[in-house]
Amino acid sequence: MDLLGHGPMLGFSMPAAIKTPAEIDGMRIAGRLAAEVLDFITPYVVPGVTTGELDRLCHEYMVDVQGCIPAPLNYAPPGYKPYPKAICTSVNHQVCHGIPGPRVLKSGDIVNLDITVIKDGWHGDTSRMYFAGEPSVAARRLCEVTYECMWKGILAVRPGGHLGDVGAAIQPYAERHGFSVVREFCGHGIGRRFHEEPQVLHYGKAGTLEPLVAGMIFTVEPMINAGRREIREMADGWTIVTKDHSLSAQWEHTVLVTPTGFEVLTVSALTPPAPAFVTQSTSPSAVQPASVAVV
Ligand code: MF3
Ligand code: CO
Ligand code: CO
Repeated sequence: MDLLGHGPMLGFSMPAAIKTPAEIDGMRIAGRLAAEVLDFITPYVVPGVTTGELDRLCHEYMVDVQGCIPAPLNYAPPGYKPYPKAICTSVNHQVCHGIPGPRVLKSGDIVNLDITVIKDGWHGDTSRMYFAGEPSVAARRLCEVTYECMWKGILAVRPGGHLGDVGAAIQPYAERHGFSVVREFCGHGIGRRFHEEPQVLHYGKAGTLEPLVAGMIFTVEPMINAGRREIREMADGWTIVTKDHSLSAQWEHTVLVTPTGFEVLTVSALTPPAPAFVTQSTSPSAVQPASVAVV
């Protein structure tokens, strides 16, 4: 969410909350439900569909099938007007917070669908990239590398590590592939509130920022641009685009710090498998529960 653009979130720094086992159970449910919305919408993301139709379908599924509240609807952090829709749909050079509407997806478009549900007061937040039809080689590569960036960040999550380790794992990986990391938006703590402390930067230095402690829950959601990192906000007050109009991609998971490493909470039947460097990793953080092993 917001880092610099609207200011207020950077002015203070509170330690991240440590969730109790009962709270973690609530977050596991919310996380799975958010991921299941992405599963549900997958077959509808085809050339010819409008982003507004994707929003309508997801909204109906969250409310009528899951008994969830779509967290984005009417969400109004300081400095923002209320967000008008149930999901975010960010197409091609849109970085994040794209507002669904009459735009028709055409073959070759890439689109991020970002879902946040509230279940029993707990938030689950996750996003994936989708292709309408066949993407260009360059677009497919950007989406793959961005997925790997998210996982590089997740793999850095372990008790005794530091929050800065996440961004320190992501940034060089993105830049080595010739891409850039968006700075103005970041991951975030999440729980009873959509955006809580801490801010999770997707760039930076290992060993910096607050120590990671088992029971913390936050998102890892890098926004990676094919071109320069600079962004611009559209006149709608929400949609963020790349200044140079280059393609942008993003993936997001909600992650728990466990006593041995991490657990991804936003998993479902169709969660894409983790990259080979995760499943083949011998680091303790990868030797993990079903939530990682079964994806
Ligand atoms: N889901 C986004 C995130 O990952 C936030 C969207 S805010 C909204 O933090 F109001 F646009 F929905
Ligand atoms: Co988020
Ligand atoms: Co999100």
